[in-house]
Amino acid sequence: MVLIDGKKVSIEIRNRLAEETQELKKKTGKIPGLATVLVGDDPASAVYVRNKNKTCLELGYQSFEKKLSSDISETQLLQLIKELNSNEDVHGILVQLPLPDQIDSEKILQAIDPDKDVDGFHPINVGRLVVGNALLTPCTPTGIIELLDHYGIEISGKHAVIMGRSNIVGKPVSMLLLQRNATITICHSRTKNLEEVTRCADILVAAVGRANFVTAEMVSEDTVVIDVGINRVDGKLTGDVDFEPVSKKASHITPVPGGVGPMTIALLMENTLKAFKKSIEEES
Ligand code: GUN
Repeated sequence: MVLIDGKKVSIEIRNRLAEETQELKKKTGKIPGLATVLVGDDPASAVYVRNKNKTCLELGYQSFEKKLSSDISETQLLQLIKELNSNEDVHGILVQLPLPDQIDSEKILQAIDPDKDVDGFHPINVGRLVVGNALLTPCTPTGIIELLDHYGIEISGKHAVIMGRSNIVGKPVSMLLLQRNATITICHSRTKNLEEVTRCADILVAAVGRANFVTAEMVSEDTVVIDVGINRVDGKLTGDVDFEPVSKKASHITPVPGGVGPMTIALLMENTLKAFKKSIEEES
C-alpha cells in the first residue's frame, strides 16, 4: 500500500508557485492578490480562511482579508463583491462557505467576476468545466487529480466511483475524471446496493461527510482510495474512510489529515496565480 502524502506534494506545488511569483514580480512589478471574505464567526471557517491568508504571504502574494459580521445583509455583501471585482490588485476572490441563512449563496457566487472566481463555483466556470475548457476549476477536485498524477496513477479507462454529489467536490471531481477518460459512477444517499457499486471502483473518492463511513467491505483489493472527509470526532480530525482496515486492501490511500486537505489550499494558490497571469496577459 502506498500512502499518498498530500502535505509533501502541496509543499512542492507551493515552492513552484513562490518561485514563479518572484519571476513575474521581477518582470512586471506586480504580484498576485487574493481576497478572502469571511462572514460570521464559525470557528472552522475562520481557521480555513486564516490558513489561506497565511499561505498568500508565504508565497509572496498580497492578501486582502474581509471579515464581516454574521448579520450583514445580502446587499452589503454584493456591494463588497462589486468593489473587489473592480480592484485591479485583486486577482482572486474567495467567499468562504457556508454563508448565513439571510444570504442567497448562489446570488453571491454569481456576482463574482468569473475571471476572479478562484473557487471555480461561478455558473460560467461550472459550464466551462463541463465543456472541458475551464481555466479555473474547483480546488479540492483539482487537487485530487494532481495527487493521482503525482503518484503516476492511470486515470484513463479506469472506473472511478465518486461517493457524494456536492457542487464543491462530488460533481466537479466527476467531471475532471471524465475529462481524463475515466468511466464514472456517482453514488449518493439514495443509491441502492451501495457496497456493490463501490466494490467495482478502481478509484474510489469518498466525499460524503460522515466519519468512517467507508468500511473494508465496501472496497475491493488494489483500489485507489481518496478520502475527502474532514469530520471532527472527539476533537480529532477523521476522514470518511475507516482508514486502518481499508488501507490493508487499498493500493494507494490518502490519510486524514495530510492527504487531500493540504492540496486544496495549494490549488487555490495555483488558481490565483493563473488568474493573475491571465490579467497581465490581457494588459499587454
Ligand atoms: N467551504 C468548504 N469548502 C470550501 C471551498 O472549497 N471554498 C469555499 N469558498 N468555501 C468552502
